[in-house]
Amino acid sequence: MRWYDRHRRRLPWRAEPGETPDPYRVWLSEIMLQQTTVTAVIPYFEKFVSRFPTVEALAAAPLETVLSAWAGLGYYARARNLHACAQAVAARGDFPADLDGLQALPGIGAYTAAAVGAIAFGIPAVPVDGNVERVAARVFAIEEPMPAAKPALRVAAARLGAQAAAQARPSDFAQALFDLGATVCTPASPACGVCPWVEQCAGRRMGIAAALPRKSPKKARPVRYGVHFWLTDEAGQVLLRRRPPSGLLGGMTELPGTGWRDDPWSPAEAVEAAPLVADWRPAGQVRHGFTHFELIIDLLAARVPRIGVDGLVRPLAALEDEALPSVMRKCVRMAGGGNDAGE
Ligand code: ADE
Repeated sequence: MRWYDRHRRRLPWRAEPGETPDPYRVWLSEIMLQQTTVTAVIPYFEKFVSRFPTVEALAAAPLETVLSAWAGLGYYARARNLHACAQAVAARGDFPADLDGLQALPGIGAYTAAAVGAIAFGIPAVPVDGNVERVAARVFAIEEPMPAAKPALRVAAARLGAQAAAQARPSDFAQALFDLGATVCTPASPACGVCPWVEQCAGRRMGIAAALPRKSPKKARPVRYGVHFWLTDEAGQVLLRRRPPSGLLGGMTELPGTGWRDDPWSPAEAVEAAPLVADWRPAGQVRHGFTHFELIIDLLAARVPRIGVDGLVRPLAALEDEALPSVMRKCVRMAGGGNDAGE
């Protein structure tokens, strides 16, 4: 706690010493920080709190608007659950101040309930994210490889949280673990020389801290292939479509295209799948890494006098307002459409 008092990071969702944390900001930041780095989250967090200053404002916004604001952050089920959760909280009047109540809300699992419970409400719970797993693995020299080590790491993290200093300041303790993991107990080359736990750390004593937590060898991600179409017209418009509401990138917008499959598409198959007959030309290839597969997209482009097919026909100049996920923003950039549609 002394280390945290001196070295705590100042983050936009964080209460300064003496301030009362705002559960809305704490919850919003925790949802955004799942699978996403602090640096990437900060501009999105600022945008969200300025557009939706309260949980009621977020609940009242159309899902569409929330997905557009989220575009680029990835893992879009988080945005759909965020909106559903805001509506549940707005309906009951406030965030529940207990772990069970929090965990009953959409998109809130054990980790987020512990994080919001500890940070916003001072509940003595230790949220175990990747940072905390790393710290715990090192302090207790847990050599079991990930992900099998997860239960042992949860127990180890709870032991850290059972110390008197942690019990006295659960909110600061949770955030101190995040900060220690992010700034001192870093993945590749931990700064053990400045670590407040250098004396107690078994991993350090054994000279294996930097190698923990150990990982099981990774399976290579499979590659999938798709073709997407960049169809523009003389009025400066482009054809988009909306993805089905659930599943990968659910509810987000995209360039029309084929499905994503294990084999590449032949040029004839690609043209066959185009939204209309036109002079389709190759406009480049886009690669994007999803959690479970790597996607390679062949982009075909055509320009017609007027886009005469059903779909979302949008001005090129307004693409940055669309709920285009990162993979589609890459396609837009590759096709040369709008230099500011990226994130
Ligand atoms: N990672 C997850 N939650 C965090 C928080 N509240 N502050 C910093 N890093 C985090």
